[in-house]
Amino acid sequence: MAARRLDGAAWAARLREELTPRIAAFTDTAGRPPGLAVVLAGDNPASEIYVRNKIATVGAHGCRGELFRLPATATLDEALALVARLNADDSVDGILVQSPLPDGMGRDAEQRVFDAIDPAKDVDGFHAVNVGRLVQKRPALVACTPLGCATLLDREEIPVRGRHAVVIGRSDIVGKPMALLLLHRDATVTICHSRTQDLPAVCRTADILVAAIGRPGFVTPDFVKPGATVIDVGINRIDDAAVAAALFAEGSAKRVQFEKKGSVLCGDVHPDVEAVAGAMTPVPGGVGPLTIAMVLQNTVTAAELRAAARG
Ligand code: GUN
Repeated sequence: MAARRLDGAAWAARLREELTPRIAAFTDTAGRPPGLAVVLAGDNPASEIYVRNKIATVGAHGCRGELFRLPATATLDEALALVARLNADDSVDGILVQSPLPDGMGRDAEQRVFDAIDPAKDVDGFHAVNVGRLVQKRPALVACTPLGCATLLDREEIPVRGRHAVVIGRSDIVGKPMALLLLHRDATVTICHSRTQDLPAVCRTADILVAAIGRPGFVTPDFVKPGATVIDVGINRIDDAAVAAALFAEGSAKRVQFEKKGSVLCGDVHPDVEAVAGAMTPVPGGVGPLTIAMVLQNTVTAAELRAAARG
């Protein structure tokens, strides 16, 4: 039987709608809308699309979204100076510096830039203060992608307490905060990564499997316990015919899409998993829209908390 489709796009629309009274109330009281500043350094094509979506979404819901561009040749000091300016600007409630930063900024540039953001404006939840608060299960701004996944599980009323949740991927952006959010919902949590031995066998013990690896179609049916809930965080564009042919059977939906358009989006989870899983997020239309909804939610939360702190 085909897995139940966990419709992230539909939930995201509903979550955004639920935020509109909070946005109106803040705007009324503050005399200005919640403000999000998005910093994009360089010209990564995927980042361009993500950033455009984030700004369009906050703008469409009555917030102010502003893009600050830095050239690919910008230095780390220039990025830090921009963050300092945004920290000091009271009309900016949220600051989001899109990852990845250009290689030229140096190896630890990302952490240095994230650490420079005022934790009260850290709508990405990447600052060490917010990460620490999340670890301690205290109120925090939480990274948008894992927060979107956890919200999906909550809204779909998928049982988490006492269940075995396996997260594939240990990144600071997704894997680690995802594992903490599952732990705080009383799951027994395993984090897997590139050095995990017999990864399919570990994954097969999961009631909830979260794939955040960045490899198209990596999670095949042999990774999945029948009936498990599978959350696919990957968004990979396939534009190579050989890769499409190796991944997708002739006549399958993804293969047909590829042949029509010359490219196709594929998650980290192979479409054949649908025959084994109990519930599964699609790509596109699963986790992606939820991430954007959480950017809006965190912007509104940051605005409210900053206003409350001012008294
Ligand atoms: N790059 C990929 N995902 C993210 C995200 O959630 N936030 C930021 N700032 N950059 C990203």
